[in-house]
Amino acid sequence: MTTYTSSWIRAYTNIALIKYWGKADEALKLPKNNSISLTLDGFYTDTLVQFDSRFTADTLTIDGQEQRGAALKKAKIILDLVREIADIDLKAKITSLNYVPTAAGLASSASGLAALAGAASNALELKLSDAELSRLARRGSGSASRSIFGGFVEWEKGDSDVTSVAKQLDSASWDIGMLFIILDSRQKAVSSSEGMSRTVATSVFYPAWLETIEWDLADMRQAITDQNIQQVGEIAERNALKMHGTNLGANPPFTYWSADSLRAMEQVRQLRQEGYTVYFTMDAGPNVKLIGTSQELKEIKERLSKYYDPAQLILAQPGPGLTVLPEHVHTDITPN
Ligand code: ADP
Ligand code: DP6
Repeated sequence: MTTYTSSWIRAYTNIALIKYWGKADEALKLPKNNSISLTLDGFYTDTLVQFDSRFTADTLTIDGQEQRGAALKKAKIILDLVREIADIDLKAKITSLNYVPTAAGLASSASGLAALAGAASNALELKLSDAELSRLARRGSGSASRSIFGGFVEWEKGDSDVTSVAKQLDSASWDIGMLFIILDSRQKAVSSSEGMSRTVATSVFYPAWLETIEWDLADMRQAITDQNIQQVGEIAERNALKMHGTNLGANPPFTYWSADSLRAMEQVRQLRQEGYTVYFTMDAGPNVKLIGTSQELKEIKERLSKYYDPAQLILAQPGPGLTVLPEHVHTDITPN
């Protein structure tokens, strides 16, 4: 009998300020462009992986629900890679807890697959470097490559498995945060993978996205170096709008925006008129994320509470990279 002792690993979500939108290689998940994100403390995933010769199949449970289909398939990509590195063929049991709504454009795939990469490597005592973990997480979900690191992170697109890797740009130990407006936490109709591949294949606007991305990236790096929240916000907002614009040019066209998203964007513009330095970004779902200083976001949360339930408004600060949890956390959870 072969058993390994493993620890729970926590990974935090990240929200892109310059979006990853389009793959150059679907299998390796090599992106068409670099992206820049902020890792946040508000939403995260805790995962435990156990390899054992008594298991007859790989299993994945998220919040106690056994997953089959696409989620298990994605998880197996990571399991197969670590099995190859460790040169074993044991099956694994993955137990995962999402402190983030799953598949709602709140980046559960980023925290979920980063936590899985960390936990699978931990379970086999592989001692991978952060760069190696970033590559491993990328194979599960592109944006997960960035959740290995805390603060501001840039994912270098590269042109091979080795060169496509994320790194920390800045620890974000200055005053910047996000306020999430959760408008709908149900699973979205068009997944990010499907949305981006349809856009790359058919959108008449996609070439313009690629033609202008280097400017956005350079401007964002400078804004982060300068700790200039207004610049960070302005560039992030225009980059997000451009990404969502490419979806309207796809065939068939699609959008992640709902009427409530448009209303939230309008509220942000109104707050700017009133003097707040606040901007928004959006991902593959209807939820809107505001970018600002912690004091202003706190005030804005208060102001917006007349339109939204308290549970719809969540403040987040910059968060750390992958974390090994101490033994006393989750002692109440029996991996099923
Ligand atoms: P999101 O906007 O939440 O990232 P996606 O559709 O891009 O939505 O990704 C959701 C998918 O990510 C899930 O269907 C599942 O495959 C994967 N995922 C989410 N959470 C976990 C987890 N804790 N462990 C493993 N995979 C996960
Ligand atoms: C809009 O990383 O979920 O959130 O690599 O296909 O799993 P796959 O896609 P995923 O896409 C994220 C897209 C985005 C932008 C971003 O996070 O950069």
